[in-house]
Amino acid sequence: MAAGLACLSPATPVRAEPGGYQRLEGHGGPVKGVAFSEGGRRMLTASFDYSVGLWDAQTGGLIRWLEGHEAAVNAVAFLPGNRALSAGDDFDMILWDLGTGDILKRFEGHKGKLIAVEVGPGATLAASAGWDGTVGLWPLSGGGEPRFLAGHRANVNDAAFTPDGTKLYTASYDGTIRRWDVATGAEEAIVVSHGFGVNHLVLNAAAGWLAYGALDGAVRAIDLASGAQIADLTADRRPILALAADPSGRFLAVGDGEGYVMVVDTADWSIRRDFRAALSGPIWALAWEPSGGRLLAGGIADEAALWPIDADGDALFAGGPREFHKPPSEMTNGERQFVRKCSICHSLTPDGGRKAGPTLWRLFGRRAGSVPGYAYSDALGSSGIVWTEETVARLFEEGPDVFTPGSKMPVQRIAKAGDRDDLIDYLRQKSGRADRAGSEVGSKTQ
Ligand code: HEC
Repeated sequence: MAAGLACLSPATPVRAEPGGYQRLEGHGGPVKGVAFSEGGRRMLTASFDYSVGLWDAQTGGLIRWLEGHEAAVNAVAFLPGNRALSAGDDFDMILWDLGTGDILKRFEGHKGKLIAVEVGPGATLAASAGWDGTVGLWPLSGGGEPRFLAGHRANVNDAAFTPDGTKLYTASYDGTIRRWDVATGAEEAIVVSHGFGVNHLVLNAAAGWLAYGALDGAVRAIDLASGAQIADLTADRRPILALAADPSGRFLAVGDGEGYVMVVDTADWSIRRDFRAALSGPIWALAWEPSGGRLLAGGIADEAALWPIDADGDALFAGGPREFHKPPSEMTNGERQFVRKCSICHSLTPDGGRKAGPTLWRLFGRRAGSVPGYAYSDALGSSGIVWTEETVARLFEEGPDVFTPGSKMPVQRIAKAGDRDDLIDYLRQKSGRADRAGSEVGSKTQ
């Protein structure tokens, strides 16, 4: 937790904005999860680009990247002892040593994506919310086997421990919030039946309420003892994608699919702030600074933003990824294919940026798995494939799961031969190939 860790930072872009905004730049994909350390000195960001960033909260500078997930990372949490947990689309939760960036342990056992991670009191237990419909309970000290709580009828999206750690509340796409006994793993009650999928929940046991945000835009609070609704802050915006309580428990921040951030004072359930934080795209993640002064937010942009909640707010995120700025009607079919299906994970520039996949610059004629500095899967690295018009076409006709089994590229197929051809034409034009004028010379071998 030493502030001196910041001096390990490589030079990274730190942009201080008017009004005290700070942008954490460097991710190569949307930011899906954020967290503050207990002391407020450091922050974590989880991204679609398969990596986790560790940042200094004073300067906004990067301390290090944590690399090890094989798919998008959705959730992060700090742990005592300079450690952290992260979980993602690769179904795994990883325990990190933040001092070295090393993986201390990989928690495997879920059969679906992991969307949320919650740490129990005393950090003896972690709960993972899985799209396999279960909640994982993982002992963090002293060994012991994980347990999986089954009962929800659909993806589990969130979980919260009671302060004494004896109960766990969970929220699911099945439209319910359920309460479980942690010691026995028994389901005790359906606490909320909302009808639409519930994405997030915040438990304030001391104040006796539970708040939740749902797919249909509902933001509501219920009294824990009676189950009666005590507040309804539903606006005409959906879905609710982020919900975070400030450390005092009094303020709630809500982020939604339309890019708004709303701050609610739960003393009287009034709306203290409500503004459009992203000009395009959703707000996926929110966390409060422990001092309560700033909110850390993540969304569609390839960056996170820190925002003093009392600042005159307008957009934290001016736009989405650059590639989306041109209207689709002005693009060729090939460019549209690339922008919609590839650009979120691949660049076409020599440096490649920090994206989930390697740069496709100079793709044709190159051996699979050969961009220096990119951490390929063993499967792709040893496949022996050389990328040509023909092999790229097969990759998307058959799908990566068939053509390059074991690859970490997600399953996708492009059904129409015309779309594949247009995409390949576009890649040939943009990937810096010498014979891009259209000659076939050397395209099949090199
Ligand atoms: C969600 C992220 C994602 C999307 C979307 C995606 N890719 Fe990939 N791609 C990857 C990853 C990750 C790898 C590295 C795979 C590995 O190491 O197994 C990869 C690898 C590749 C490779 C092999 C590159 C090399 O250096 O060997 C090619 C070619 C490729 N992708 C093309 C595409 C194209 C074209 C599209 C759009 C139709 C696309 N990808 C969409 C993530 C993605």
